[in-house]
Amino acid sequence: MARVKSVHVCQSCGYESPRWLGKCPGCEAWNTFVEEVREPEPKAGAPSRGGYGAASGNKPTQLRDVESQEQSRVLSGIGELDRVLGGGFVPGGIVMLGGDPGIGKSTLSLQVAAVFAGRGIEVLYITGEESLGQIRMRAERLGVNAQDIWVVSETNLERIERLLVERKPGLAIIDSIQTTATDALSSVPGSVAQLREVTGRLTQIGKGHGIPMVLVGHVTKDGGIAGPKVLEHMVDTVLYFEGQAGSNYRLLRAVKNRFGSTNEVGVFEMRGDGLQEIANPSAAFLEGRPNGASGSAVVPILEGTRPLMIEVQALVTTPSYGPPRVTSVGVDTNRVILLLNILDKRTSIKVAGMDVFINVAGGMKVSEPAADLGIALAILSSHLDRPLPANQAVFGELGLTGEVRAVSMADRRAQEARKLGFSEVVMPASNAKMIDDAIAVTHVADAVRKVFGDLSRPK
Ligand code: TYD
Ligand code: MG
Repeated sequence: MARVKSVHVCQSCGYESPRWLGKCPGCEAWNTFVEEVREPEPKAGAPSRGGYGAASGNKPTQLRDVESQEQSRVLSGIGELDRVLGGGFVPGGIVMLGGDPGIGKSTLSLQVAAVFAGRGIEVLYITGEESLGQIRMRAERLGVNAQDIWVVSETNLERIERLLVERKPGLAIIDSIQTTATDALSSVPGSVAQLREVTGRLTQIGKGHGIPMVLVGHVTKDGGIAGPKVLEHMVDTVLYFEGQAGSNYRLLRAVKNRFGSTNEVGVFEMRGDGLQEIANPSAAFLEGRPNGASGSAVVPILEGTRPLMIEVQALVTTPSYGPPRVTSVGVDTNRVILLLNILDKRTSIKVAGMDVFINVAGGMKVSEPAADLGIALAILSSHLDRPLPANQAVFGELGLTGEVRAVSMADRRAQEARKLGFSEVVMPASNAKMIDDAIAVTHVADAVRKVFGDLSRPK
């Protein structure tokens, strides 16, 4: 009798080992190995499930005879989503929608479902997370016309497969892959083995029947859809929903897209009546900006290829409670500390020994070095208590010697700044040649002179 083979699989990265291990060699996590039953590999010559088997019998075709999928794209009608998808859904295109619990994945899915259903396209919404009553309540809250959406509460993969094949809906939403499980595996729903099987089999059905699908996936604490690397290669598009705690803005980002660019982001705001597109995010992020206050700088950053104007705020105070601290929200604290050291060493203004707080308004996260100069000037502005001129925006990377270095796509940044009424843009001299109304700076001390004027004079 053949022994059932088992394998130990790391539940956080999918690493496989024949023995149990305490620490995963793949991702270095502890106590993540779970024993799983391994189905026997199909024998050579047996029909393979669409792998590289020689039995598939497909003949080569010249590319000119292959039908492009471009014409058959279906727009979701939600502009910010279509932008990230690269122009709407593709038949048989499998989209994984990932994000923290509560970020709005089910909300966005239902909004898309309502648009499709409203056009007479059959939508099948399969939920393993919520009751049908809850979905109905959400639809009412969203005020969308959801009457025609087909909903079913189901977590069993085999029954879901049967439903999809029977009905061949024009759009299927699986909410979520973590709650869906196959009988073929003994491991618990949400384990790497289950996720891999569920995603793989749903993808095959979607491709085989031309059903576009949205697979909702929760992100685990450490930031990936559980076992992200083992799932991303199976689907066509991976979208992540991001947002900072306490902020209602949501960014939808493509990290993989077989049908479009991964450089696009969509911006939404979570409101009482669901996710609303923010077509002009720069204006939204700058709304409520204080006029003439010190400690604020406006920076054109790039999200993919999309320029966004954000406001960096700094507060520099004398520490009254213990040793000086640097606290930062939206910018990496180590980057802020580096910038503080550059300011201390490369300008005549000493910030050392002060408490420094940095915040990016609107809950945005900034990781671009192009924001360096803006952060530095916001810090100095607060420290000197001199506001930046209200018509100025700032960008540029700071090097360790205090030099201001060129950044990419300066023209797009300057353009966005001008569009929002910033008539002067402080930028690296090496970027400024081709750009009107640029205030070209070569060094952080140069920038301080040009922005704040003569510091020996009273404000
Ligand atoms: P949800 O889509 O259920 O999140 P996910 O599926 O990613 O877990 O969104 C849940 C949150 O969104 C919840 O905290 C309430 C909030 N919300 C609104 O603010 N407005 C709305 O119209 C809806 C439907 C939800
Ligand atoms: Mg949900």
